[in-house]
Amino acid sequence: MEKFRAKITGIEAFLPEYILTNEELSKMVDTSDEWITQRVGIKERRILKGEGLATSDMGAEAVKKLLKKTGTNPDSIELIVVATITPDMMFPSTACLISEKAGIKNAWGFDISAACSGFIFALQTASQFIESGRNKKVIVVAGDKMSSITDYTDRSTCVLFGDAAVAMLLEVTTEDVGVIDHHLQIDGSGKDFLYLKAGGSYKPASHATVDAKEHFIYQDGQPVFKTAVSKMADTSVEMMKKHGISNEELAWLVPHQANMRIIESVGRRMGLTKDKIMININRYGNTTAATIPLCLWEKEKELKKGDKLILSAFGGGFTWGTIYLKWAYN
Ligand code: ACO
Repeated sequence: MEKFRAKITGIEAFLPEYILTNEELSKMVDTSDEWITQRVGIKERRILKGEGLATSDMGAEAVKKLLKKTGTNPDSIELIVVATITPDMMFPSTACLISEKAGIKNAWGFDISAACSGFIFALQTASQFIESGRNKKVIVVAGDKMSSITDYTDRSTCVLFGDAAVAMLLEVTTEDVGVIDHHLQIDGSGKDFLYLKAGGSYKPASHATVDAKEHFIYQDGQPVFKTAVSKMADTSVEMMKKHGISNEELAWLVPHQANMRIIESVGRRMGLTKDKIMININRYGNTTAATIPLCLWEKEKELKKGDKLILSAFGGGFTWGTIYLKWAYN
């Protein structure tokens, strides 16, 4: 029997126009361009401004651009999987809102919550619907309006995050390209290091939670840093060993863009030179679910059919994962 794989056949992004620079942040909190550049490697990030605009608006714009670019009839899309931790609302899902805004009428869909690993989890989930033979055309959207949960009086987190959304078309193939293998994992004992304290069923929104700023990201940075480096590097190395891929043979490592020092440490632990690692954190910061596909979108023209890519992410939960894929087009 023929083996079905999911191949990426197009990618598009939406980046908000507003650029929040280190200089502007230095006027908002006690920080400096020097500290931010040295400690996290970010120079600027995009922020979605405008009353009533949310993650679904960025996602829908990316989807509309994707449909146009790939010449895809919206009616042919069967499934939309959205990775986000900043859904427009608790329900309905952002997938519902994006499908409506982008004019997709024949699909089903759902959201995946895996923080910074969201894209990796969504790509694998969507791929499995194609591998099973159930679906032929699926859209994965990875997007976050991180500015909606960022406390711009907290210097330890507000310098890190940005807003963006990326949409990707997955189609069925029987060629030896596309999503080849994955290792995904969760460990809830990491829950206290990176989370949103209130707004869910555990602690519903109240005047007290707002006063205590519990609707903003809470992070204990150092344990997150250490665990991110070991999980991303070790699962990437294991994946490469399993498939007999040498560092020379690897076209690109595409790591989640959390922090330049995390990316550099992962590269060092894997023995990879910097020219093999996709990096754009300096221009967009940590856009959570969107970072990995944003890198792929920017490098799309340089990627060649058959290129071996390792995508690796780590995020709140804890969640982490690595996907091995072979790029499907020139
Ligand atoms: N500007 C100036 N000083 C700052 C800033 C800032 N923006 N932020 C923190 N500091 C200060 C702290 O107040 C502290 O000062 P003190 O020594 O007087 O108390 C000092 O810098 C060191 O603080 P630490 O928190 O120990 O700094 P650290 O070296 O750990 O860097 C950071 C903090 C950048 C958050 C780091 O822990 C980190 O990168 N962690 C990984 C977390 C991450 O990237 N998360 C993103 C989401 S998770 C993910 O995507 C995987």
